Amino acid sequence: STTPAAAPVQDYDELISSLPVEQTSIPIRHLPGIMAIRQHFKPRPDDLFLISFPKSGTTWLKALAFTTMTRTHYPLDRHPLLSLNPHDVVPFIDDLFAAGQASKLEALPSPRILATHMPYSLLPYSITSSGCRIIYICRDPKDAVVSLWHFSAKATAAKRRECFPFDKFFEMACEGNFAYSPIWDHSLEYWKESLRRPEKVLFLKYEEMLEEPKANVKRLAEFLGWPFSEEEEKGGVVEEIITLCSFEKLKSLDVNKKGCQEVAVFKVANDSFFRKGEVGDWRNHASPEMAQKLDGIVREKLEGSGLTI
Ligand code: A3P
Repeated sequence: STTPAAAPVQDYDELISSLPVEQTSIPIRHLPGIMAIRQHFKPRPDDLFLISFPKSGTTWLKALAFTTMTRTHYPLDRHPLLSLNPHDVVPFIDDLFAAGQASKLEALPSPRILATHMPYSLLPYSITSSGCRIIYICRDPKDAVVSLWHFSAKATAAKRRECFPFDKFFEMACEGNFAYSPIWDHSLEYWKESLRRPEKVLFLKYEEMLEEPKANVKRLAEFLGWPFSEEEEKGGVVEEIITLCSFEKLKSLDVNKKGCQEVAVFKVANDSFFRKGEVGDWRNHASPEMAQKLDGIVREKLEGSGLTI
């Protein structure tokens, strides 16, 4: 059976009002896609979901997971990621449903690698109960806010920067008042689930991945149930994957310099996904007081959870 296309916005008004979104601010334009997913998405038990708060390293995780999972399919010198953006090979289900293109998901061979920014509490029961694996990536909220500010400004050209000076944008993040916020709840929900079901939910941190890429890519492969063999390790396969998916490599490719993503609510140049790729760029944007404020809120909200971000 095929998944019905997402219905137009007006069909979802009633359902949207029943959605448990009190604790998260979901942009209104994403709601029809999310509603359609909750009603119609048919997960397969071997689906792999890559999930994140926006600007936390989703593009990188897509590249790494795709390359690791398909590592015997393609020679690295003729790899799909040399001519496709990571978002072309791992779709956001939110975007496809919002665009009425859900049938594309049905056409994908198993095991599928899919992505979403949905908070855990909004994932449909069909996903959380299906046995699907989830890899979540989190990032220092201060850097995610900086990254999102630049991304939004670029996506909507210069106008947006005038409407949203950085200080105001940062304040909105502290109030938990923008897309998929609050950041701390987004990460905390997946953190708790990764403790409850470690075999199904892997929790990664952007900063740790930059610091120790090899250990983290190995963790990822083990989590997928397909660890690197001794032979692969000796042959440098892990390093090759890391190099192919590195910020410098992906940023330098023609497809990521010139191409663009255009699905439903989402039209954006591929180069917007590769800005600096560093830890601590918030220092160039936020004052120490602003940083202290957000750090304090996050610390308080995460207290006792064992999670630090
Ligand atoms: P900056 O804006 O701080 O540079 P997402 O992929 O979730 O949209 O996140 C985008 C952020 O990840 C951007 O951060 C981007 O530069 C960074 N990024 C993209 N590809 C990366 C890679 N291969 N390695 C490390 N960081 C990467």
